[in-house]
Amino acid sequence: MNNNSNSQKWNLMEVTKMIDQILEVFHAKHRADLEMLIPLSEKVESVHADHADVPKGLADFLKHLYGELSSHMQKEEEILFPMIKNGQGMMAHGPIQVMQHEHVDHISNLENLKNLAKDYVLPEGACGSWQALYSGVATLEKEIREHIAIENDFLFPKALNS
Ligand SMILES: [Fe+2]
Ligand SMILES: [Fe+2]
Repeated sequence: MNNNSNSQKWNLMEVTKMIDQILEVFHAKHRADLEMLIPLSEKVESVHADHADVPKGLADFLKHLYGELSSHMQKEEEILFPMIKNGQGMMAHGPIQVMQHEHVDHISNLENLKNLAKDYVLPEGACGSWQALYSGVATLEKEIREHIAIENDFLFPKALNS
């Protein structure tokens, strides 16, 4: 993470509060964002199907990402986070390792996502939907990276030492 005061904030936070924040600021937000971005992407791809710069395949890839993220977040919500909240973080080596492997997969998904969205470069005269799509996908990418960094760098090390 590049913002020092933000890092400081997460570093000082107690694990139960950190989990509640992660659920609200990231898990719920990614779900809401993807539920908005998938139909928006389908719309842009179909309205501009003949345009040379159309982000073909973006909607399908967002659906794939939604599937992978949902199953990952569900495992955290139902298994790992309750263990940590119950003070069993030291016994969570296995589940934490699985989550860290999945984070690596998510990061590589984000590279594909950005490529499909043409590095968020809009064609000249892009309509409002196209603009909203790229700005929404760029925000999603940034927030998924933050989410992963907070879990890897702050939550998991703290949980393992609690
Ligand atoms: Fe998470
Ligand atoms: Fe995670």
